[in-house]
Amino acid sequence: MRLAPSILSADFSRLGDQIAQVEEAGARQFHLDVMDGHFVDNLTFGPLVVQAIRRSTELPLDVHLQIENADRWIERFSDSGADMIAIHPETLHDLLYPTLQTIRELGKKAGIALHPSKPLAAVEKMLPDVDYVIVMSVYPGFAGQEFIPGSFERVEQLRLLVGERKLSVEIEIDGGIGRDNIRQAVEAGADVVVAGSAVFAGEDPAVRLREMLTAAGNGA
Ligand code: DX5
Ligand code: ZN
Repeated sequence: MRLAPSILSADFSRLGDQIAQVEEAGARQFHLDVMDGHFVDNLTFGPLVVQAIRRSTELPLDVHLQIENADRWIERFSDSGADMIAIHPETLHDLLYPTLQTIRELGKKAGIALHPSKPLAAVEKMLPDVDYVIVMSVYPGFAGQEFIPGSFERVEQLRLLVGERKLSVEIEIDGGIGRDNIRQAVEAGADVVVAGSAVFAGEDPAVRLREMLTAAGNGA
């Protein structure tokens, strides 16, 4: 399991320092939530901030696009230093497969995010065309929301599906994960666990990240 802090809850006035601290404490990749004020009711950051983070760490950067017209932004996020780019399929319609292909042609990992309101069947046929799936365990838009019950079961079911089809698709769980439930995320079969507020909404992110790794059974 790789623990991926979501910088959405970080202190942006000390972002470089906080990135260094959690990296030192055992973070294995960073999760960057890009929001446009249309697809979700929140506005975060764009390629400029991704570039700044790229200069602060060599860990993989996972850019979770919660935006409309994601197809128009792939190259810019790729050029900014993203290693993984995930889109919400419902925002793209006919452009979904070409966009996934573009991400891969740029040498990046292509991901899709599964909205909590959508059944697993909604992404089933896309699995051969992606490198990872983000199972959303909160409604996209904000950090610090409550975990939606039943999300671990969705990870388990997806893990089975991926196994049956002998695909190499990684599963990420995103939202509402903390010390108290990270173990369940690992047991359900998540390869990557995203954590925003559980890591950054306190005094010392490094301490909180280490506590999460311990609670996970040091699965990192
Ligand atoms: C929500 C984002 C999440 C969020 C997770 O739209 O996709 O990545 O930052 O934050 P926590 O861990 O606080 O639920
Ligand atoms: Zn996210």
